[in-house]
Amino acid sequence: MQKTAIIFSFNTKKTGKVAERILEAFQDEQVEKVNAEELTQEVFMSFERIIMGVATWFDGELPNYWDEFLPALEEVDLKGKKIALFGLGDQKGYPENFIDGVGIMADLLESRGATLVGFTSTAGYEFESSRALRGDHFAGLAIDYENQGSMNKERVTAWVEQIKREFSQ
Ligand SMILES: Cc1cc2nc3c(=O)[nH]c(=O)nc-3n(C[C@H](O)[C@H](O)[C@H](O)COP(=O)(O)O)c2cc1C
Repeated sequence: MQKTAIIFSFNTKKTGKVAERILEAFQDEQVEKVNAEELTQEVFMSFERIIMGVATWFDGELPNYWDEFLPALEEVDLKGKKIALFGLGDQKGYPENFIDGVGIMADLLESRGATLVGFTSTAGYEFESSRALRGDHFAGLAIDYENQGSMNKERVTAWVEQIKREFSQ
């Protein structure tokens, strides 16, 4: 049985809310909740399927708790792992760096051999640039509480159906 985790900071309000929605949408499937602020390399490596909540802070940077974990990721082989990223950002406030954190994390995970799933279309968003872009898709799910909060539920539900499929392929 492949183990699945959802990893996010338990101290965040918005990322935490989206994580709870994702968990609800998984319903009876077993997904373990892991606090990104207490994450170890060993715990990370014990899962085959991983959902990560990666907000963008500091004008295009990762929050400190993820930044501090990067060295642990830089030395592991992630071949065989399927990882789905969801990222919070503000496309009006930070149009040049919209969900850059997802892109920073995606680049690193891919360079270590992980298979990323859960890419989504950029249709319906307005921004200038993003490190999370892969062609006309984001390397994950973009959630914008500040400007498009009413779309969160629909976006999360569709994304969870997508990643469930991609996790099992
Ligand atoms: C100081 C500050 C810097 C931010 N920088 C960015 C940014 O560069 N790109 C972006 O898309 N969002 C940016 N945001 C928006 C946050 O990502 C957004 O508010 C998100 O919902 C925060 O989630 P969290 O509270 O769960 O960490 C920034 C917000 C603040 C307050």
